[in-house]
Amino acid sequence: MRLFIDSANLDEIRKAAEYGIVDGVTTNPSLIAKEGHDPYDQIRAICGVIDGDISAEVVSTETGAMVAEGRDLARIHDNIVVKIPLIRNGIKAVKTLAGEGIRTNVTLCFSPMQALLAAKAGAYLVSPFMGRLDDIALDGCDLIREIVAVYENYGYATQVLAASARGPLHVKEAALAGAHVATLPYKVFDRLFDHPLTDIGLEKFLADYRKTLEQASAA
Ligand code: G3P
Repeated sequence: MRLFIDSANLDEIRKAAEYGIVDGVTTNPSLIAKEGHDPYDQIRAICGVIDGDISAEVVSTETGAMVAEGRDLARIHDNIVVKIPLIRNGIKAVKTLAGEGIRTNVTLCFSPMQALLAAKAGAYLVSPFMGRLDDIALDGCDLIREIVAVYENYGYATQVLAASARGPLHVKEAALAGAHVATLPYKVFDRLFDHPLTDIGLEKFLADYRKTLEQASAA
């Protein structure tokens, strides 16, 4: 399973990159806007931190403009994946960009049937949003399971990227469902490391070791 960081913040991305286990970055217009820099400069800078898929989203909603923007974004770096919203014009843009060999990540996906359309258009990634479904009392984990099943039934090459993860449980459910990728806010990524028994166990190992050494040196 690939793990991406869902952030446009360079400090967070650098901190996550230090572990050497992060495979890419996803951004969206809200995350880019939060950083307050020129969007293209920000995306270029992110490409300099992580050598993996970097999703950068178009902000146009007409097919022609989305395609033009997608081409511009793809020119920033070979690792760019053009993020396109799952709307009618977006699916047309995905089809055109796929025909040109430009990889796309179809975002704002909330149903297996929307995911089917993305796969048929030749999307490289599809991003079902788990957390935003949970927010309205629906099951984001079910959505991942259903999309994985639909894609497996027909052998679609589109990879499922579990997005809008709010905590480690979402990551676990996405992994169990067979999602190819999970994108995580830095906070969620960081929480994956933690287990109280790990800390308690390590403390005990080290205390036992120190005690034995003290006894040996006192003898
Ligand atoms: O970047 C797409 C997605 O992961 C956004 O998540 O937390 O804004 O629902 P969130």
